[in-house]
Amino acid sequence: MCGIIGYIGNKQALPILINGLRRLEYRGYDSAGIAVIEEEKGVRSKEKIVRVKAIGKIDELAKKVVGKDLIGTIGIAHTRWATHGGVTEVNAHPHTGCTDDLVIVHNGIIENYRELKEKYLAGHEIKSQTDTEILAHLIELFYKGDLLSAVREALSQVRGTYGLVVMHASEPNRLVAARLGSPLVIGVGEGEYYIASDTSPMLAHTRNVIFLDDGEIADIGLNKFEIFNVASEKINKDVNHIDWDEAQAQLSGFPHFMLKEIFAQPTVMQDAVRGRYNLEEGTAHLGGINMTVEEMHKVKRVILLACGTASYAAMIGKYAFERLAGISTEVDVASEFRYRDPIIDENTLVFGISQSGETADTLAALREAKRKGAFVRGIVNVVGSTIARETDGGTYIHAGPELAVASTKAYTNMAAVLLLYALQFGRLNRVSLATGQRLLTELRAIPEKMKQILEQSEKIKVLAEKYKNYKDFFFLGRGINFPVALEGSLKLKEISYIHSEAYPGGEMKHGPIALLSPDFPVFAIMTKNQLYDKMRSNVEEIKARKAPIVLIATEGDESAKELANDVIFVPPTMELIEPLLNTLPLQLFAYHTAVLLGRDVDRPRNLAKSVTVE
Ligand code: AGP
Repeated sequence: MCGIIGYIGNKQALPILINGLRRLEYRGYDSAGIAVIEEEKGVRSKEKIVRVKAIGKIDELAKKVVGKDLIGTIGIAHTRWATHGGVTEVNAHPHTGCTDDLVIVHNGIIENYRELKEKYLAGHEIKSQTDTEILAHLIELFYKGDLLSAVREALSQVRGTYGLVVMHASEPNRLVAARLGSPLVIGVGEGEYYIASDTSPMLAHTRNVIFLDDGEIADIGLNKFEIFNVASEKINKDVNHIDWDEAQAQLSGFPHFMLKEIFAQPTVMQDAVRGRYNLEEGTAHLGGINMTVEEMHKVKRVILLACGTASYAAMIGKYAFERLAGISTEVDVASEFRYRDPIIDENTLVFGISQSGETADTLAALREAKRKGAFVRGIVNVVGSTIARETDGGTYIHAGPELAVASTKAYTNMAAVLLLYALQFGRLNRVSLATGQRLLTELRAIPEKMKQILEQSEKIKVLAEKYKNYKDFFFLGRGINFPVALEGSLKLKEISYIHSEAYPGGEMKHGPIALLSPDFPVFAIMTKNQLYDKMRSNVEEIKARKAPIVLIATEGDESAKELANDVIFVPPTMELIEPLLNTLPLQLFAYHTAVLLGRDVDRPRNLAKSVTVE
């Protein structure tokens, strides 16, 4: 996700901003920029904002700035992790309106930026492909000499998420910041203030910070600041003293990036879905499909290509496409696909699903599918990645940079985007308006239900303490929960190094059950759905072999306690949406087990975050 740092005070802003950006590099970025209100002989000059941007690393920006001899004690800076628009200097922040008088840096997604552009900005020359620039033009449009009022009025028109900081040349002693859905922190120094996405860029200067909450706006001047709530009432907020070191600051207080990313799932799930459906029509609108309705109607086969965790998300897509769209769908592990003779024709739609967008096997398989004439689309996290560029359309999953090697938030976001695609195709023929609306309504409720599960993290840590010394595990699921079992098994394997295997529940009696013993615990997903009774029978077979059983069960299913040694309850939801919830306890179990075993959770042995070799 993007990084923001702003400064106003009595020191030169440039070094503070550049070094602050370096402290934000861990967030992942592809370009950076800075803006300073230049001073002449110690006086902040009006109408003189100098802006410098560069793609690539902070060093590239620093090289460009060196020659500028930028003197000024107020400025803002930004590292961009592209969401709308490619990785270009024009798309890098800070952005301006029609003039260079106003500059803005922003983290988040302005969902209705197209509507705002059409409604307010006719005749404005829009230079970039970003949603943020639209916001700059809007604030400039409403600017009548008071920056706070202009920001308030512009944000009243906005739908989406933002953490932003704005500066105007006509008010060279003022920064205005606003938060909705993207964190912002004010650092309170001696006669100076910092404003940033997290505390890491300010710890070298101050440990006294104020965390803005959603809907709040901060008006920061020389030696004073005011904070206003959603109702524009001035409020007082506690100043917190941070004793984190820098590494902890980058983790926002979490012990590992993996746990931070597990807990980010409710937020990034909203980003995956936001602006991509129409509840009134009961359908999804993923423009990236880049096909006419006629072409969509002609699709007779869908092939989902991916590796590892992404392939398990693909399996969820298989169930969704077949159930909702009635289209034959197969999942191919990419490294196998390219070496078999896949049957592909002009009515085949192939998705490449990849967090990094750089996985060599997935890329090679996609190229093979393209060569054979299929429609080829990407479902990718990293904007501008190779798979994103080489496919003829697709959708970014908006999970934000995933820094832990073990994929968590990207997995659930991939699954959500696949559900939306399946609905978009399903509403062409098979899916009724009511069903579509019910699915979308449930999808919108998922972030809150995810939070309910995440609240059980400490309870799941106790389970990990209980089971951490076992040497073998089974993970079982049926139907759409079989991919969940596969993902839970992979998570445990790849970060705790404990052996585990996943099977469809019905497969146990075909051999694996021979392994069961009191030393071979089994995780079974036995949530209330059409296969509940079948899964219950499988669990009873396992119980008869005296293997320890941990059940993932639906809240209220008290009978589960009779069958299992331990039960983790999850909220009820629609069967197709269950994986977005049922995976979370397994992510947490794997995480806590690995921590208790002293593993390098974020960088497990032998693994790379992106496997760019075959
Ligand atoms: C998942 O935790 C692993 N890191 C791995 O299986 C990963 O999902 C796989 O390598 C695919 O990566 P991608 O999504 O970047 O293509």
